Amino acid sequence: MRDAVGDSMGLTLRVSLDETIGTLGFSNAELRDFIEMNRDLPDLWDLAQGTWEDCSGPSRFKEEAAQEALVRGIRELTGKPVVGVGRFTSPDVMVRMIRQGTLDSSVARGPPSPIRFAEENRGGADRRYRECIGCNICITAT
Ligand SMILES: Cc1cc2nc3c(=O)[nH]c(=O)nc-3n(C[C@H](O)[C@H](O)[C@H](O)COP(=O)(O)O)c2cc1C
Ligand code: SF4
Repeated sequence: MRDAVGDSMGLTLRVSLDETIGTLGFSNAELRDFIEMNRDLPDLWDLAQGTWEDCSGPSRFKEEAAQEALVRGIRELTGKPVVGVGRFTSPDVMVRMIRQGTLDSSVARGPPSPIRFAEENRGGADRRYRECIGCNICITAT
């Protein structure tokens, strides 16, 4: 892919933090080895766990930051930004993980996007924004 696009665009790579299918897939330890081996090859690592059921659990079954233990420490294996997910229904939890150095960013359900943060800082925000409750209606419609 790099040979095909050169420097004309960034290449991101989404990989499962743990495929949770035993020897048929990557464990979390193997994923860490894979990232270490390919350190700076993609421009950004986009990490999320396994299937829809593992990855996008509703608030009834998943705590906020449900993938924190799986992703913690991976940022030290690469020089490229690490993006993660895991029921970040509150932007505060996402910001905590960024401040703690676990993630560089996150794109998932609920929390306002960086664009919305910027709009709010400029005072032009749509104040009707409501925090995600992890009900998963958006997922049933996907
Ligand atoms: C409506 C919706 C659409 C999604 N579409 C994709 C997609 O096209 N590709 C993908 O890799 N993940 C997709 N996801 C999964 C999210 O990227 C993320 O892994 C998942 O929502 C878990 O993170 P969260 O619990 O923090 O929301 C989608 C999620 C939602 C809610
Ligand atoms: S439908 Fe809205 S509130 Fe429910 S999980 Fe999706 S983003 Fe969150």
